[in-house]
Amino acid sequence: MRVVPLIGAALLKSLCAMADDVPAPSSPVPTFTLANNITIPLVGLGSASGVGYLHVNSAINAGYRFIDTAQSASWGYKEAEVGSAVADAKMRYEDWKNGDSNEYVFVQTKIHPQDLGYEATKTAIQLSLERLHVTSLDSVLLHKPRCWEGVCTKEPEGTWEDSWKALEEAYDDGLIRSIGICDVDSRLLDQLLAKRIKPTIIQNWFDPFNQDKQLRERIASINKQQDEKGTVEGKILYQGYSTMGTQWKMRGYDTSPVFDNYILKNIAKKYGVSIPQILINWATRQGVMVLPASTDASHQEANLNSFGFVLTDDEIEDINSLDGHPRGKRKLRTFNNGNEEGIEKHGDPNKVQVHFLNHVPNSPVTVYWVDGSNPDNHLPMGEMKEYREQVNLESFHGHEFVFKDNNGKLLHKVSVDRGEGKRQYFEITDKTYTPTSTVAPHLVATLCPLEGPSPAGTNEFRRLFCFPNLTLFLHLSRITLPHPTMVA
Ligand SMILES: NC(=O)c1ccc[n+]([C@@H]2O[C@H](COP(=O)([O-])OP(=O)(O)OC[C@H]3O[C@@H](n4cnc5c(N)ncnc54)[C@H](OP(=O)(O)O)[C@@H]3O)[C@@H](O)[C@H]2O)c1
Repeated sequence: MRVVPLIGAALLKSLCAMADDVPAPSSPVPTFTLANNITIPLVGLGSASGVGYLHVNSAINAGYRFIDTAQSASWGYKEAEVGSAVADAKMRYEDWKNGDSNEYVFVQTKIHPQDLGYEATKTAIQLSLERLHVTSLDSVLLHKPRCWEGVCTKEPEGTWEDSWKALEEAYDDGLIRSIGICDVDSRLLDQLLAKRIKPTIIQNWFDPFNQDKQLRERIASINKQQDEKGTVEGKILYQGYSTMGTQWKMRGYDTSPVFDNYILKNIAKKYGVSIPQILINWATRQGVMVLPASTDASHQEANLNSFGFVLTDDEIEDINSLDGHPRGKRKLRTFNNGNEEGIEKHGDPNKVQVHFLNHVPNSPVTVYWVDGSNPDNHLPMGEMKEYREQVNLESFHGHEFVFKDNNGKLLHKVSVDRGEGKRQYFEITDKTYTPTSTVAPHLVATLCPLEGPSPAGTNEFRRLFCFPNLTLFLHLSRITLPHPTMVA
């Protein structure tokens, strides 16, 4: 077993009992042995949002031996700076291999989704080799299994499966030591498990309100089977991203709800540590690797030093029970009671971007808007033909949507509550449908078949859908505002 050594005076404060499956640590940071027999720490440095040369430098000095970077500059990654900082510290795998260093920093990068496709991914691998100043890469993930407007400046030339083939070949050639992918759901995991070379690492959004329990349970069960066989081969590391709640800031929260949560606050107070330290301790205790990003040297050091206490079973259960949706304080704004002048100036506070995702295996799903003036009238808004296909709508507080399968069977119902954020995601499953009769009659809507932007100076036609295979418009007339449940 090859080990990425962990040192750093800040780390040597205390040892604590960790989960049974974690080998005895040489530092307080628990570790995981990857399928390729390399052992890595379960706390790495995330580097989106501007982590650059000096931040990587301070992290290496604090004892970090894993850094997560990516090719995407638009998501704030500075891959070349990460590469230079690790190379200048003589901490690359090859420095260690050549005997120039007795430890190394495991650097993971990610291929931008616009480079999905066999040839494009091969070229992208070369780019990372150059930027990271290495002859082989520790880990390469596909950043997303697909691309979408606003993220890609060009149409990807192929699919994640074409890219996977390129990763497999680079792995065969010794150019990459571990391969993986981000944003994996159960169906994608099935597909990955059928590949010639299976993923070593899966990186998903993981925070106390989005615990991804089903996928983690599946991975834990795969890993348990391999443990019982006494092999690391076939094991998968689950990495969590945005564990400090950053994803919620893209879903209508002005600040991360993690830092406002009273349960987390109370536990942190009890141990005299910060909420990030509680979350790192809690996550790694369940075998989840975390990648807290930080440009602050004292935060970096504190995050590595999150193991001087042992959470009780009740505390772990309390944190586990937060899964679902952030509760409590939401920074909702209303302007001038939502009147025309305020809306003109600040935008409509009732507006919500809704994203529906087909999560019904083997069935197309049609999205219907429930007509506010006649709840029995269901207006078709779009179809999600394939599993995981999306329909994205600009909607308003109080809207209701129902979802039907091919045979017109009602599957699921969604009520839009602006209090849940200005961008909301719904996985549409086959749930028992319970009709409700109360629909706020404050909106009327008709389907508009036109394409093109809103007429200048009007808000009559609103663009609803921005994905390449479907464009929808909803013609909305607001009769009364604000909705009675909107509060400041
Ligand atoms: N695969 C993907 O699609 C994907 C998506 C998102 C993220 N990621 C990866 O996951 C990493 C982490 O996610 P993230 O960047 O979204 O954010 P995050 O780690 O959830 O949160 C980062 C924020 O937390 C703060 N923070 C960190 N430690 C702290 C501490 N001890 N005390 C107080 N504040 C602290 C940081 O501020 P300071 O700088 O002030 O410390 C920063 O603002 C990324 O950097 C990236 O590597 C991957």
